[in-house]
Amino acid sequence: MAKMVGKQKDVAGLLNSLIEVDLDAIAAYEVAIERLDDDADQAQLGEFKGDHERHVRELQPLVTELGATPVEKADIKRVLIKGKVVLAAIVGDRLILVAMKTNEDDTNLAYDQALGRDDLPAHVRELLLRNRDDERRHLAYIEKRLAQYELTEPGEVEPPSRAQGAQASESDVAQAGEVPSTR
Ligand SMILES: [Fe+2]
Ligand SMILES: [Fe+2]
Repeated sequence: MAKMVGKQKDVAGLLNSLIEVDLDAIAAYEVAIERLDDDADQAQLGEFKGDHERHVRELQPLVTELGATPVEKADIKRVLIKGKVVLAAIVGDRLILVAMKTNEDDTNLAYDQALGRDDLPAHVRELLLRNRDDERRHLAYIEKRLAQYELTEPGEVEPPSRAQGAQASESDVAQAGEVPSTR
């Protein structure tokens, strides 16, 4: 779904597909927050969910301004496929974060593709840049937490050679194959 975001024929359609991506993220965050045990992660993801809600609120009037009708609700079929059902079946904080990372990979890709267009009005571009900064922050937090899990639970995902080292770099983690870096 996110792969299609840059290909819309007009800016209103583009903004509506970003709204859809944000609405999907909100639905996934709701389930993830409910199921996480770690209080700090729960609070942090609560903030990220708030960012996505703000993204939707700020994108909608731009669609109206362009003479189109803004998307209001997440598509139930898409939520069932990518969000709630998948997350509801996942047990354990680390795996919930793995699922949320794929979600944030989607939001980051969507905003990157949208910003790749050359027909965005300046104020639209400014908003999308701000939103993309939020998305990058969300992804960076989740990647950081996953890297910490790899260091503290070596038996599950770590190769034995790194089991005693507490200083694996981000690139080490990416090479382990569990958390591929997107940058
Ligand atoms: Fe967002
Ligand atoms: Fe996000």
